[in-house]
Amino acid sequence: MSKLWGGRFTKQTDRLVEEFTASITFDKELAEEDIEGSLAHAAMLGRQGIIPAEDAERIREGLLKVRDKIRRGEIEFSIADEDIHMNIEKHLIAEIGPVGGKLHTGRSRNDQVATDMHLYLRRRVVEIVDLLHKLQTALVEQAKANTDTIMPGYTHLQRAQPILFAHHLMAYVSMFGRDAERLMDSYKRINVLPLGAGALAGTTFPIDRRFVAEQLGFDRIYENSLDAVSDRDFIVEFLANASLIMMHLSRLSEELILWSSTEFGFIELDDAFCTGSSIMPQKKNPDVPELVRGKTGRVYGHLIGLLTVLKSLPLAYNKDMQEDKEGMFDTVRTLQGSLQLFAQMIATMTVNRERMRQAVNRDFSNATDIADFLVGKGMPFRQAHEVIGKTVLYCIQNGKFLLDLTLDEFRQFSPLFDERIYEVLKPESVVNARDVYGGTAKNQVLAAIGRAEEELARIADWVAAHREHA
Ligand code: ARG
Repeated sequence: MSKLWGGRFTKQTDRLVEEFTASITFDKELAEEDIEGSLAHAAMLGRQGIIPAEDAERIREGLLKVRDKIRRGEIEFSIADEDIHMNIEKHLIAEIGPVGGKLHTGRSRNDQVATDMHLYLRRRVVEIVDLLHKLQTALVEQAKANTDTIMPGYTHLQRAQPILFAHHLMAYVSMFGRDAERLMDSYKRINVLPLGAGALAGTTFPIDRRFVAEQLGFDRIYENSLDAVSDRDFIVEFLANASLIMMHLSRLSEELILWSSTEFGFIELDDAFCTGSSIMPQKKNPDVPELVRGKTGRVYGHLIGLLTVLKSLPLAYNKDMQEDKEGMFDTVRTLQGSLQLFAQMIATMTVNRERMRQAVNRDFSNATDIADFLVGKGMPFRQAHEVIGKTVLYCIQNGKFLLDLTLDEFRQFSPLFDERIYEVLKPESVVNARDVYGGTAKNQVLAAIGRAEEELARIADWVAAHREHA
């Protein structure tokens, strides 16, 4: 079969070149978007009288037929037709005859592919925000069930101060909230129409870009034709946003893996989310968080990959830019899978409150509070720090914890101690003493959960309002 662009050529394309340059093996993922864009373009051509209205109508019917066939899996794409755009055009012409050849009037694959990608990413971003919302909801639910669960808080992975487990989970709710916000903000740079830029300079036909934008639900159209076909910022931005989501997932993964080890024993992941060992019968491995942690690497790789592809590219389109797709598709798949699994995994995990409590009872994470107690009695903080340091050392040397000391033992270190320290040292007191906005005190955490639920309602509204395109 001859090429759609074969006129100028005297030789067949080398078979290896054909294989090497074709993108159909992966850009077939854009089939729906490609047809959607073509439907709007054809309608505009007919409306503007650039092609006869009845031709536009035949093209529309042909495109719908091709779309049905693709959906039913009846179309076999061909490498000889290089990419999704020419494959679909070939099938359209096969369907309705030479009139199908009028579809490409006033457009180029350069503005066409850019349009497809904008349509594609617009959908996926709404779906991903929705998945983030589901994960945040699962985290908030676990937080609500754990507003009395006290765990050791860490810095340097060393016990630092006790915190509510709910507070720890809510930290991730905040992170994923920023991730959702970033994606929602990026939407305004994604929802822009490139079509009408032609190959690079615009077109000689009296097209109506605003009409096409309206048909496709784009809020704006690209201002500059060169920019329209050269811009892949919106994909880079998506990959950067995706990298941050994966980074957050990876940190949470690491904690889930640690917490479900025998050494910590703070949580247990549901059996449905773990796998066993082929040799060690006792094993229950946290494969899902491990794999998510591992997959973070490929998403970062796609970001750096595309930034590198675009670096130094002269305007306007260059074939290099075909390399923008696989990383984007893979990132979408990776994110969607990871977020979906995480929401379910968080919702179904068991929290071992007793283990967390035992850990808190057997550590010195209340040491700051006892220092603060002495400060309350008028001792300079630096001196109090020194006194408590000595007290902790005494405990370590005598195999005790602070709550085990008698008042006489305390008084060896400072006469300012009185029996009220036993109340101060209780993990509940230590937690509830951090009663500042954003702190771990129970009433602060409850307030934070309330604010998060309002934020979740706003995100859900945004998803509902933007679903129309999805
Ligand atoms: N398959 C191409 C891509 O993904 C479509 C645009 C091709 N344009 C061209 N002038 N070769 O980038």
